[in-house]
Amino acid sequence: MGKSRVLIIGATGNLGHQLAKASLQSSHPTFALVRDSAFSHPHKRHILQTLSDAGATLLEGSIEDESSLVEAMKQVDVVICAVSSKQVLDQKPVIKAIKRAGCIKKFIPSEFGLDPEKTQTSDLDHGFYSRKAEIRHLIEAEGIPYTYISCNFFMNYLLPSLVQLGAKTPPMDKVTIFGNGNVKGVFVKQSDIAAFTISAVDDPRTLNKVVYLRPPGNVYSMNELVELWESKIGKKLDKVYVTEEELLKKIKETPFPDNMDMVFIYSAFVKGDQTYFDIEASGGVDGTQLYPHQKYTTISEYLDTLLEEK
Ligand SMILES: NC(=O)c1ccc[n+]([C@@H]2O[C@H](COP(=O)([O-])OP(=O)(O)OC[C@H]3O[C@@H](n4cnc5c(N)ncnc54)[C@H](OP(=O)(O)O)[C@@H]3O)[C@@H](O)[C@H]2O)c1
Repeated sequence: MGKSRVLIIGATGNLGHQLAKASLQSSHPTFALVRDSAFSHPHKRHILQTLSDAGATLLEGSIEDESSLVEAMKQVDVVICAVSSKQVLDQKPVIKAIKRAGCIKKFIPSEFGLDPEKTQTSDLDHGFYSRKAEIRHLIEAEGIPYTYISCNFFMNYLLPSLVQLGAKTPPMDKVTIFGNGNVKGVFVKQSDIAAFTISAVDDPRTLNKVVYLRPPGNVYSMNELVELWESKIGKKLDKVYVTEEELLKKIKETPFPDNMDMVFIYSAFVKGDQTYFDIEASGGVDGTQLYPHQKYTTISEYLDTLLEEK
């Protein structure tokens, strides 16, 4: 059996670009559904040219245009959607088009974060996770074969500052730790998330499952992160602990969406939403166990790159 033909929706985006690259690198015939407007944007045009040079087929269309979706889907076996978190519900026409096309053997919707059925922030996150869960329910109600990728945090989100609010670089003197600092979170580099995702495309073990990414070397508590960073810079930092109550108060006092970084920190490093549950064989699989040979960047290696920038 040949490799599945893969359609990426969102190939000009941060993650979608990596997904398209990984798909091409794995020799999947790769298609990208691209809006006409992307070609007038120099950076996006460059991405599209590079993908096209590497063998991708660019199809003009939009998730707002169902006929372009159906036309694209008739040419492929698998659809991966990587539209932004603001557009999660805009995937409804994609689901409709998959039903109409009738040939799609797997849909990977735009999730790529925490498992929306496991998070404990529904009173705080302005529907961020309930929208992703709604899309899951729709996919399942329509009987569409799926894989959900629960990759936890992207490495370029929060980690460049060592989880310091409003900072772009890691702390050198004083560090803020949320909660007791012992709750573990997970960071995975986007290109690695893309590689794991593409490995799942033709893997029957991932059919109708959630693929969780918790690679060894990428699961750290805030106390462990700080200790690791201290060992790299050869210096102890002053630690300020923000209690759960203080963080919740600040989240409630800060208007949406400015409070969302705090909500995500609360979810991961106070509630433990990325790691509090075991991966159950009935609905989930562990991506690093499925693909033990897949190389990935560890948190320590990533922090070394920050050190080089100092
Ligand atoms: N876990 C984490 O830490 C984390 C962090 C960030 C994002 N994420 C998740 O990753 C996923 C992707 O997010 P991202 O930040 O990579 O997205 P992004 O960079 O904003 O890219 C969005 C993509 O969607 C495309 N798009 C927008 N409207 C479209 C339409 N009408 N038709 C077709 N394509 C359209 C855009 O194309 P144009 O070039 O035409 O605009 C672009 O390629 C989301 O599910 C998000 O929640 C997770």
